[in-house]
Amino acid sequence: MLQGLSLPTYLVGVASMIAVGALGAVVTYLGLASLRIQHSLRPTFYVVSAGAVLLTGALGYLLHRWCLWGYVVVVPLVALGVADITQKRHTIRRNFPVIGNFRYLLEKIRPEIRQYFIESDADEAPYGREKRTVVYTRAKGTVDTIPFGTRRPVYRVGYEWIMHSMAAKVPPPGTPRVTVGGPDCSQPYSAAFLNVSAMSFGALSRNAVLALNRGAQLGGFYHNTGEGGISPYHLEHGGDLVWQVGTGYFGCRTDDGAFCPDRFRDRAATPTVRMIEIKLSQGAKPGHGGILPAAKVTPEIAEIRGVPMGRDVISPPAHTAFSSPIEMMEFIGRLRELSDGKPIGFKLCVGHRRELLSLFKAMLETGIYPDFVTVDGAEGGTGAAPVEFSNSVGMPMVDGLLLVRNALVGIDARERVRIIAAGRISTGYHIARLLALGADLCNSARAMMFAVGCIQALKCNTNHCPVGVATQDASLCRALDPGDKSERVASYQAATVESMMELLGAAGLSHPSDLTPWHVARRVSATEIKTFAEIYDFVDPGSLLSEPCPESLDRHWRRADASSFRPPETLAH
Ligand SMILES: Cc1cc2nc3c(=O)[nH]c(=O)nc-3n(C[C@H](O)[C@H](O)[C@H](O)COP(=O)(O)O)c2cc1C
Ligand code: SF4
Repeated sequence: MLQGLSLPTYLVGVASMIAVGALGAVVTYLGLASLRIQHSLRPTFYVVSAGAVLLTGALGYLLHRWCLWGYVVVVPLVALGVADITQKRHTIRRNFPVIGNFRYLLEKIRPEIRQYFIESDADEAPYGREKRTVVYTRAKGTVDTIPFGTRRPVYRVGYEWIMHSMAAKVPPPGTPRVTVGGPDCSQPYSAAFLNVSAMSFGALSRNAVLALNRGAQLGGFYHNTGEGGISPYHLEHGGDLVWQVGTGYFGCRTDDGAFCPDRFRDRAATPTVRMIEIKLSQGAKPGHGGILPAAKVTPEIAEIRGVPMGRDVISPPAHTAFSSPIEMMEFIGRLRELSDGKPIGFKLCVGHRRELLSLFKAMLETGIYPDFVTVDGAEGGTGAAPVEFSNSVGMPMVDGLLLVRNALVGIDARERVRIIAAGRISTGYHIARLLALGADLCNSARAMMFAVGCIQALKCNTNHCPVGVATQDASLCRALDPGDKSERVASYQAATVESMMELLGAAGLSHPSDLTPWHVARRVSATEIKTFAEIYDFVDPGSLLSEPCPESLDRHWRRADASSFRPPETLAH
């Protein structure tokens, strides 16, 4: 029938036949499928595929051999259906061959569809679009203002704001810093107000680590190594480091995984290591050791950490170098000595209040104090964590921060111990409100990831991060240019601290330390607003050292025990 036609007309004719044939087969299948969707589609698939194979052959024989091109479509679809029916992993594909695959395809692109088409600016999933956009624009140095006014529901309970002053000031020039290091520390560190929170090489790619470290070096802030130890990429650009020592003791462990003082001393002497942080827990998975999925354990990482390849690297949930609050303070004293007087602190997400207060009793008993305490909250991020730990374990950051602040003030040690806050901090306002609540400086993890290009594709635990931030796949990682991204990290940090300083000026203040709980207000009902000073309990200096004990801490303080983390009786609070 097509004989005698020119080649282009031929090709168009054949393509049309294939398209019409394929469409017919698919429409027939889908039509039958919709009628039978409550039942398995296997019988329908057998009938339609046999029909399509026979019909294509018949058309090729009766009409024209070019119709046999229809097999180009029919054969792969039939093969896919047969593969679906014979595989045993996915019941949906077995019951609904061919079309069942759409479910997996749609499920795969669901986060992108949600992010690009459905999510609103304020949705926190887990990080809202508005906050991501602020980071992206400040990182790129483009317009970071918004038009037309706030989109926040200002009459909704929970809405917060800074109380501005009629005597507002122009922010003072320069960026103030905070000194970390108590009287026992001989190498105090002058820290910025916003820094890179703990994220290991392993969770992050080498180029992401290079970009963060160079950004820290350009902007004069610190870069926390995360519990995976110090890699060559943490050292290449000479940015200030906080070396985090987790329960795996990576970088300072003996061959059987215990703490090794000699290795610690050698590593702590690295000039760019400015402070050392003992990691007790992190907000996204408190009580669970660090997890590096096997897919991300490259030979290089296995070598740096001293662990085998091919298996998830799971750090123990607790430290083996100490087992009581007093032993922990002694360990802090030992690390200070081994590091030649560098500031030593610890990071935690608060669990039992009694346990936390036991640490402060141990400080009083031993006379050994940390130089800083980093408080992370349940809202914190992670590279990989079990869902129960992310969703249902750990105190939110503000509550933990207040407890740490009250305990330090209560034992009269606030002047010598700095408080660092981490947990969804991305704007100048976030920093200012936490300083008002008692923090001295802040860390940010995910906002810094956005600055190096994270698009919140939420694949950090799979090694398939599309932008090369949280993957060890060399081809994906190569696309991330550490040079360009380091400038973005520095630019984001500088613009955010600058915006905090502008807020201070609006409140009539000159220095971040002038911020008090009276400067931030929250709507607590439709008709009532209160400042943080009126909402939260702030204990007086030295109030834990004499009777009566502040009511909010009384029960936990009495039950706290410097010699044990264990509760005195079965019911722990
Ligand atoms: C990819 C990734 C890796 C992390 N790795 C560590 C780690 O090694 N040690 C740690 O203490 N916290 C780790 N965290 C937690 C952060 O340091 C931080 O405490 C938490 O994410 C809260 O900050 P954010 O809300 O700014 O992300 C990690 C977070 C992310 C997102
Ligand atoms: S873009 Fe990469 S780093 Fe960001 S959330 Fe996705 S996988 Fe994680």
